[in-house]
Amino acid sequence: MPKLAKPAVRPARTHFSSGPCAKRPGWTLAALEGALVGRSHRAKAAKARIAEVIERSRRVLGVPEGWRVAVVPASDTGAMEMLLWQLLGPKPVDVLAWESFGEGWVTDVVKQLRVPGARVLEAPYGRLPDLAEVDFEHDVVFPWNGTTSGVRVPDGGWIAADRAGLAICDATSAVFAMELPWAKLDAVTWSWQKVLGGEAQHGMLAISPRAVERLESYKPPWPLPKVFRLTKGGKLQAGVFEGDTINTVSMLCVEDALDGLRWAESIGGLSALVRRSEANLAAVADWVAKQDWIDFLAEAPETRSSTSICLAITAPWFAALAAEGRAEAAKRIVGLLEQEGVAHDVGSYRDAPPGLRLWGGATVERADLEALLPWLEWAHAELRR
Ligand SMILES: Cc1ncc(COP(=O)(O)O)c(C=O)c1O
Repeated sequence: MPKLAKPAVRPARTHFSSGPCAKRPGWTLAALEGALVGRSHRAKAAKARIAEVIERSRRVLGVPEGWRVAVVPASDTGAMEMLLWQLLGPKPVDVLAWESFGEGWVTDVVKQLRVPGARVLEAPYGRLPDLAEVDFEHDVVFPWNGTTSGVRVPDGGWIAADRAGLAICDATSAVFAMELPWAKLDAVTWSWQKVLGGEAQHGMLAISPRAVERLESYKPPWPLPKVFRLTKGGKLQAGVFEGDTINTVSMLCVEDALDGLRWAESIGGLSALVRRSEANLAAVADWVAKQDWIDFLAEAPETRSSTSICLAITAPWFAALAAEGRAEAAKRIVGLLEQEGVAHDVGSYRDAPPGLRLWGGATVERADLEALLPWLEWAHAELRR
């Protein structure tokens, strides 16, 4: 294979990690200047900032009236686990897994909680399970976007409007980049470190009136650590949903989350965020269509993620390698891109098939992705020399 000249253009910003993700365009540390550091998070002014994060998140995402939104510990994982631990048990549950994070929730439900009547609906990397198999008499647990395979559910059409169970959705790599059908969901989680480029370690959850009813009427048979407790004496801890967090938050992270939300509003809110992310996916799709060595890992176009864009190397030389050889080759491509200083953190997730993963969330500029793509061709040709 002939050697390619290095592309003339380099991305202005080289941050394509799938989490923590690129900060919003123009972000500097100055965004944190007003942070209430050194203050109690229970002080009136600090609580007001936390409440502002809740309010702005609610507004940008279009969370329906009557839903409760909270900032919770331990990022998206904490938010999901507090929901699984508190909501699951009274009904059988269908857990959907098509990549690493969904598989993590399977472990929680099946091996840790051992929820009676748990069913696992699985699919290999690149595909979705058969969504028609889900029984909405049961609770259902699923990620909206499988971050490690780049496969997302295409919409909420498969979710029963008249479901008896609760739909519990890990939406951390979907919110702020994809429209969510709130009426089809009952509990939704995310963290700050993804589409708005916030800092890690704080989680958020939004729960519907039906989920609140479950919380208030059902007491799980297993122990609940303090950081999981959303109720007290059988009643919802209302303060948690007004900025009175379960434990101490970082006011620096709160300030940064507010900066991200203000930016989101300044560019036109959710529809603008979705457009930016879809434009990023389109840029990659246009390029992939012209390549004969790389393709989307997601097989069905309507399931291709616009945030965690996962690419599989399909060239015959790559396919002919043993598993370690493929992992090694993909790592070398990623290493070359790092070495050239054109892209950081674009290797596929440790449990996913070896390949590349480019973040296309709203904080990434399409022009930067477009500038990166010829570099992928260059790196591939370097390997094949
Ligand atoms: C779908 C999904 N779920 C859960 C997580 C875990 O998130 P966190 O590390 O913020 O807890 C991630 C992180 O990438 C994710 O993409």
